[in-house]
Amino acid sequence: MFVEFCMWGAFCVLTAGLAVTSQVLGSCPHHCHCGTTVSVINCSYARLAVVPERLPLDLTGLNLSHNAIRTLAPEQFRALTRLEDLDLSDNHLAYVDADAFLGLRSLLDLRLARNRLKVLPVGAFAGLSRLRLLDVSRNEILGFLDFTFRDLAGLRVLEALHNDVVFISRQAFAGLSDLRQLHLDACNLTLVPTEAFARLGRLTVLHLHRLDSSVLPNYAFLGLARLKELIITDWPRLETLSTNSLVGLNLTSLAIRNCKISVVPYAALHHLVYLVNLDLSCNPISYIQGNQLRDLLRLEEFRLVGGRLRRIETATFQGLARLSLLNVSGNLLSTLEEGVFHSVDTLRHLGLDGNPLACDCRLLWLTQRRSSLDFGGGLPTCGALGQWDFLDYTAVEMAELLTCQPPRVQLHQPGLVSVDQGHTAVMHCNAEGQPEPSVTWLDPKRKALMGTGRIRAAANGSMEVRYAQPQDAGIYRCVASNAAGYDTQPVELHVRALTKKKPFHFKSRLAALPSSSPDMQEPPFDVKTLLIAASIGFLSFFSSVGLCFVAIFFWSKGRGQIKHTANIAYVPHSAATSRNGGTGNYMETSRFTMKLM
Ligand SMILES: *[C@@H]1O[C@H](CO)[C@@H](O)[C@H](O)[C@H]1NC(C)=O
Ligand SMILES: *[C@@H]1O[C@H](CO)[C@@H](O)[C@H](O)[C@H]1NC(C)=O
Ligand SMILES: *[C@@H]1O[C@H](CO)[C@@H](O)[C@H](O)[C@H]1NC(C)=O
Ligand SMILES: *[C@@H]1O[C@H](CO)[C@@H](O)[C@H](O)[C@H]1NC(C)=O
Ligand SMILES: *[C@@H]1O[C@H](CO)[C@@H](O)[C@H](O)[C@H]1NC(C)=O
Ligand SMILES: *[C@@H]1O[C@H](CO)[C@@H](O)[C@H](O)[C@H]1NC(C)=O
Repeated sequence: MFVEFCMWGAFCVLTAGLAVTSQVLGSCPHHCHCGTTVSVINCSYARLAVVPERLPLDLTGLNLSHNAIRTLAPEQFRALTRLEDLDLSDNHLAYVDADAFLGLRSLLDLRLARNRLKVLPVGAFAGLSRLRLLDVSRNEILGFLDFTFRDLAGLRVLEALHNDVVFISRQAFAGLSDLRQLHLDACNLTLVPTEAFARLGRLTVLHLHRLDSSVLPNYAFLGLARLKELIITDWPRLETLSTNSLVGLNLTSLAIRNCKISVVPYAALHHLVYLVNLDLSCNPISYIQGNQLRDLLRLEEFRLVGGRLRRIETATFQGLARLSLLNVSGNLLSTLEEGVFHSVDTLRHLGLDGNPLACDCRLLWLTQRRSSLDFGGGLPTCGALGQWDFLDYTAVEMAELLTCQPPRVQLHQPGLVSVDQGHTAVMHCNAEGQPEPSVTWLDPKRKALMGTGRIRAAANGSMEVRYAQPQDAGIYRCVASNAAGYDTQPVELHVRALTKKKPFHFKSRLAALPSSSPDMQEPPFDVKTLLIAASIGFLSFFSSVGLCFVAIFFWSKGRGQIKHTANIAYVPHSAATSRNGGTGNYMETSRFTMKLM
């Protein structure tokens, strides 16, 4: 190595025995760039296979990135006690010896990104008590052993994204008492390493990438009371956030991106009252329910870019008086109504491009606010054909283009529907309008019908009354509504009762039987009904009596030892006098036998 050094050093002879002299003079290693002072040396892209020898002792910055360095000798940098910044990124390091960095007592930043490290041995970072930043991202690290970072009491930022971490020991982060930011890739972990995290009481930023879990369990981040920013990205199986999964956290920023969450986790979020930023982008969420985010009073930015959003309900952001950014670019929204916001006055940034918006009056509020809104990269467009930029038009033109038609209800049957008691009545109605109206049915008490039950409304506008009863009769209403208004049509339901409700006077009706004169006071008597009713009555009487007999028969059959005969003894009058007489004889003469069925 000395020979190498001599080959490029002009001071070869001079430095031969006096290395210290050359270091103080500050030689610049071959292929490296040194500034006017040699305290910072840039050796990136210098095709180095090893770390240059005899670097100036007063060096504060050394950039060895983009070389082919494979190994570090033990205590390689021992003499560089003033070095603050060491960049070894983009090399071929597969292993770092314990004590490799011993002596770098001033080192603040150490970068080892994009090497081939698989394991970080315990003690690898010994002596780096002032280190603030350690970057081991984009290596092949498989796990973190207990006490790997025990010497890094001053570490603030640990970057470990894009590794293949399969295990994290419980004490892996022991000693990182001042860590503020942790960026971790845990691709083959199936559980959040809650216990290991519990040692990081000062952590403010946690970025967890690629965890292989479908549920974020309850109390996953207990102990991280100072955490402000939680970023969960690329968990391909994550579908559920348990209700108490974020308990113990007081976040200002939460991102759950590129996972499989299909429902906004309202329950898990609601205690995060200091939340300012919420990002649920790239999740298959199709619907945001109204009034469910109302506890997030300080929310300023909401992002759900690239999801499957079809609908944002009215009053979704009700109560969120600080909301200034909504980015829902790249979804399936057909509109965004003014009514979703608490107040559109606070809104400054709106990402709405990449949605199949319908051109109607629900978007008019956008044109009125176009001067105060920043639409980011792309302006919203509407219309299935042509995709015209509706913000190119004047407000007057817009008012003509973005129109709505109030709904018109059409019934598919006359306004009076009759049905026999016990049968099913079906009514159908549909409605025209722009935008497409929603259809509901109201019962005679003006209550909206649900999709289930004996009397129910279907999503296609039809309504049915099954097993109709006299009390179901009345006026039902089909109501259609859209952004432009509503329309309603009544339908009256008649139920023909099977029997009269009046008490039944059998005798008088029977008397009236032969007479069928039209001038009768009472309505004509229905013989068939009577016969049916009577036969049903008799039938049921006989059948219940019969049933009783059958039941008694089987009951008696089932009682094991059954005598089919009964012996009945009687005492003849004469026997009373001869009390001490032969009983045998007496028994035989004074009994008879009865056969039982
Ligand atoms: C370091 O040197 C490389 C290669 O010559 C050069 O591309 C890079 O800009 C330099 N970096 C700095 C910070 O001077
Ligand atoms: C080292 O040099 C590379 C390439 O020139 C550069 O990208 C990197 O930022 C430098 N590192 C530091 C710590 O300045
Ligand atoms: C992680 O899991 C995937 C699939 O289960 C597997 O293909 C991959 O090799 C695993 N990685 C490691 C580092 O074990
Ligand atoms: C939660 O964080 C906010 C600021 O982010 C802070 O003002 C508040 O005191 C914290 N609450 C608790 C209970 O720690
Ligand atoms: C919304 O997000 C997309 C993608 O990140 C970005 O390109 C766009 O500028 C954002 N829009 C706004 C208004 O911030
Ligand atoms: C509407 O849907 C119901 C059940 O969902 C069905 O029974 C009925 O036939 C449908 N009506 C029409 C007109 O499509």
